[in-house]
Amino acid sequence: MPRRLLSGVLGALSQDMAIDLGSATTRVHVRKRGVICRQPSLVALYQEPRGDKRVLAIGDEARAMLGRTPPDVEVVRPVAEGVIRDFEVAEVLLRLVMHECMGPSHVVSPRCVLTIPHGTTEVEKRAVRECAEAAGAREVHLVEEVLAAAIGAGLDVTEPHGNMVVDIGGGTTEVAVVSMGGVVYSRSLKVGGQEMDDAIVRYMQDTRGLHIGPMTAEDLKIQLGSAVPGRLRGEPSSVEVRGRDLVTGFPRAVKVHADEVRSALSGIVHLIVETLLASLDKTPPELAADIVDKGVVMTGGAAQLRGLDRALGEATGLPVIVADDPAAAVVQGAGQALEHVEVLQAVAL
Ligand SMILES: Nc1ncnc2c1ncn2[C@@H]1O[C@H](COP(=O)(O)OP(=O)(O)OP(=O)(O)O)[C@@H](O)[C@H]1O
Ligand SMILES: [Mg+2]
Repeated sequence: MPRRLLSGVLGALSQDMAIDLGSATTRVHVRKRGVICRQPSLVALYQEPRGDKRVLAIGDEARAMLGRTPPDVEVVRPVAEGVIRDFEVAEVLLRLVMHECMGPSHVVSPRCVLTIPHGTTEVEKRAVRECAEAAGAREVHLVEEVLAAAIGAGLDVTEPHGNMVVDIGGGTTEVAVVSMGGVVYSRSLKVGGQEMDDAIVRYMQDTRGLHIGPMTAEDLKIQLGSAVPGRLRGEPSSVEVRGRDLVTGFPRAVKVHADEVRSALSGIVHLIVETLLASLDKTPPELAADIVDKGVVMTGGAAQLRGLDRALGEATGLPVIVADDPAAAVVQGAGQALEHVEVLQAVAL
């Protein structure tokens, strides 16, 4: 069969997938089906007595084991600060989520778009491609995360017009100006939602003498966290959490107030504000004028921290909006690029 015809047949039979392998969450968007998989980027490995490691669980199941494992089991996070740190484990995670998304009836391996941080080197890009191919992808395209985020947030990135995106994920905050299918300027901060959780853990140790786990800290952040004072009607102003008393060593429950969580997060909010201000300062004038018109769009799971849009708006004097479904914007944008060949051609690396 001629090659082009063969590739056409394979294309018709395979499922196109966009994959966002994030520090916190792995999401998969499948053509015509939308975002069908969302799993924590975690893999639980069992150390066999003879030396081999066996995959016990991934995603939600692995997350349930965090902090509760015996010595021969470890829960690994293959992506940190937006970058793949452990390619072997990342390949396992990719293979299993791809398999879950394809379903048993699909025999042809998928065409994939993977999102990568801006500034990824050629060597790193090759490693990501090889990792996805080893996990079962037939064809791999790479798209920069902030560009995908802008597309997913509904912006037209192919026009000669500047758009500013602030993507706040689990491990990184990326501020970028995009125009004509490319990233014109980008600044990245190795701080995101996970650093916010760590700040809450430290705050509880220092001020309440209580050691809480990272998942409890994340719950506190989502339920009570905010970047500015004030709460909406109906929202709780305090919640009870459990941890280990640092003095007695015994479990203890304490009531935590929203003001305390805001105070724990204030340093990180300040860092994000500073990064945005520094980025605006470096943006070329024509593009800066576009941004004054259109404002700034926030994406990423941690963009949902209450009042963070307001804090960024007050600091910059610009309109700041949070994208619809901000945590899924990157994968949705990558999925749209796969569906529209002209967009893929404009943004793929
Ligand atoms: N309602 C919420 N308020 C505040 N933070 C939230 C909320 N919902 C989710 N988050 C946080 O968003 C973060 C995950 O965001 P996201 O899924 O965009 O990260 P990621 O893409 O995996 O990470 P990265 O882009 O840094 O590699 C987590 O730290 C999570 O606690
Ligand atoms: Mg992300």
